[in-house]
Amino acid sequence: MGKARAVTVTALIVAAGKGERLGGGVPKQYRALAGKPVLRWAVEPFLHHSAIKDIRVVIGGGQEQLAAEALDGLPIQPFVTGGAERADSVRAGLAATSSDALLIHDAARPFCPAAVIDRLVASLEFHDGAAPVLPAGDTLARGDTTIDALVDRSGLLRVQTPQAFRADALRHAYARWSGDAPTDETTVLHAAGMTVAAVAGDPTLDKLTSPADWTRAEQWLGGRLIPRTGMGFDVHAFAGEGPIMLGGIAIPHSRGLAGHSDADVALHAITDALLGAAGLGDIGEHFPPSDPQWKGAASALFLMHAAKLVRDKGAILDHIDCTVIAEEPKVGPYRDGMRSRIADILKVDMSQVSIKATTTEGLGFTGRREGIAAQAVASIRMAHHG
Ligand code: CTP
Ligand code: MG
Repeated sequence: MGKARAVTVTALIVAAGKGERLGGGVPKQYRALAGKPVLRWAVEPFLHHSAIKDIRVVIGGGQEQLAAEALDGLPIQPFVTGGAERADSVRAGLAATSSDALLIHDAARPFCPAAVIDRLVASLEFHDGAAPVLPAGDTLARGDTTIDALVDRSGLLRVQTPQAFRADALRHAYARWSGDAPTDETTVLHAAGMTVAAVAGDPTLDKLTSPADWTRAEQWLGGRLIPRTGMGFDVHAFAGEGPIMLGGIAIPHSRGLAGHSDADVALHAITDALLGAAGLGDIGEHFPPSDPQWKGAASALFLMHAAKLVRDKGAILDHIDCTVIAEEPKVGPYRDGMRSRIADILKVDMSQVSIKATTTEGLGFTGRREGIAAQAVASIRMAHHG
């Protein structure tokens, strides 16, 4: 195998397993971890890395819908169909790739540090294959219900993925492989007499195999989330006849509110607060008033979309607090109706939504009953690098 520099690198993510050891119905790679499917977590580090030309995802028969939902909006289709064993899935992916080099990665390892990708790509310049490793830390033994024989752990390595290979070397090695299905490709390359370089692995790359691994991943992610807040403010003038839309519900009133959409000031303020918390701009950018498709639109759609964008960033919605500033109508009788409707739109519990109301003691435009204003604060938790 040549030593020329690899030019194009494809990330091949194998996601065709059934996740039987983890259990829980839906295969683990399609289950949400902190609101985001494991497969999406697994793919993102490659999507954001400049050394990676493209990404192919290998899925199991019948998993098309699950995979399409998990990767919604990402430039990854069409999927490759895998096989009964992991190695069959890798070979299917290899056959669908024409790049000079591959990084083969388990979908069940959701958090790949960019530095590991850097190390792997760099070592492909000198080796046919490379894999991230960690030293075995625990005492190692053979046994079942008793510890029968201790194994000397010195020099023993735990081999993780992603694993990097020059494509021609891996094809050659697989063509010569005659054993049972290997658990990874370092095994195959090594059996063909080629050298696999060991680069430093990372504990966050450990595979989600058992329910305990899942719990650990959730806890680790939870620790990386930091609280963020966003604020929103909106005003609409009274015009025409009621009812008015406020907090997602229709409230009978002698006068209506003027606006391009349904003029729901409370939902507009909350939408802006959510977008602000996640650093996603403002409502006018996402739903320009100049765009005819939003004329008369239900503001619930804006809020629902903002919540989706925020969750797509891996954020958790913690709390919404909104103050309606108006002399009329009286908000009190409708407060719980609004909280319940907003909780429905945001898919959170009603206890996470607060609606307050105040007058301005007859002062200013709200005091003169010219219109209604609303302020909102949204509290979320989101990963630092978001
Ligand atoms: N995999 C695959 N094709 C298979 C089997 C596994 O693409 N026929 C993938 C899995 O989706 C996973 C990775 O290989 O991303 C590592 O496999 P493993 O952790 O064993 O996952 P599962 O096979 O899904 O889990 P289990 O063995 O518990 O059923
Ligand atoms: Mg398996």
